[in-house]
Amino acid sequence: MSVDYLINNAGFGKFCEFSGESFETYHKMLMLNVNALVELTHLCLPAMVNKNSGGIINVASIGSFQPLPYQTVYGASKAFVLSFSEALTGELLDKNIRVMALCPGTTESRFMENANADTSNMNLAPASKVVKSALAAYEKNRMYTVSGKINYVVSLIPRLFSRKRTVKIVVSMFKDNVLGKSLV
Ligand SMILES: NC(=O)c1ccc[n+]([C@@H]2O[C@H](COP(=O)([O-])OP(=O)(O)OC[C@H]3O[C@@H](n4cnc5c(N)ncnc54)[C@H](OP(=O)(O)O)[C@@H]3O)[C@@H](O)[C@H]2O)c1
Repeated sequence: MSVDYLINNAGFGKFCEFSGESFETYHKMLMLNVNALVELTHLCLPAMVNKNSGGIINVASIGSFQPLPYQTVYGASKAFVLSFSEALTGELLDKNIRVMALCPGTTESRFMENANADTSNMNLAPASKVVKSALAAYEKNRMYTVSGKINYVVSLIPRLFSRKRTVKIVVSMFKDNVLGKSLV
């Protein structure tokens, strides 16, 4: 088998309180967002190592950087994707194989509808813009990239505040959205 590039993009989330969704849904989410991504990487990487060439882009999220109340399992799955991708980069430093975690913010797609999110006050980036910035970052050999300048600043919140303060900030961003009011 020869694989030049692997892009692990498939994933879904839910906007709800943790107990408001079935375990079956969380199981499906983890199987897709985490297990499938690890399995496909495990399947494709040996061939890339053999020819010392290849690239992997794992689609994580701006939610990878901090816990996500009201998207608890989804946020944890995307933290996994970022951690896993960066750890792989470390193992492959002396190889000609790039691994990059793409961390988009809110983006136009079927994602928000499937997540039962209220998008009325969200800024959704066009998917084409996210893809363009991702490919530019990949060319620059970035280990991770956050699409959009504002999203990049948001991704720095956990570096600037305590862990508890960070969680409270995320609650203020999503609680009203999940409980039926608009996102502030
Ligand atoms: N949109 C956002 O705001 C946003 C923000 C941050 C990160 N992301 C991430 O971006 C990635 C792409 O999502 P998207 O925004 O393009 O959402 P989307 O329009 O809902 O697309 C999701 C993709 O995942 C696939 N998928 C869903 N469930 C699957 C399953 N059980 N088995 C196999 N494939 C499945 C879908 O396949 P089908 O086409 O066959 O249904 C589709 O290709 C996801 O990893 C998501 O977590 C999205």
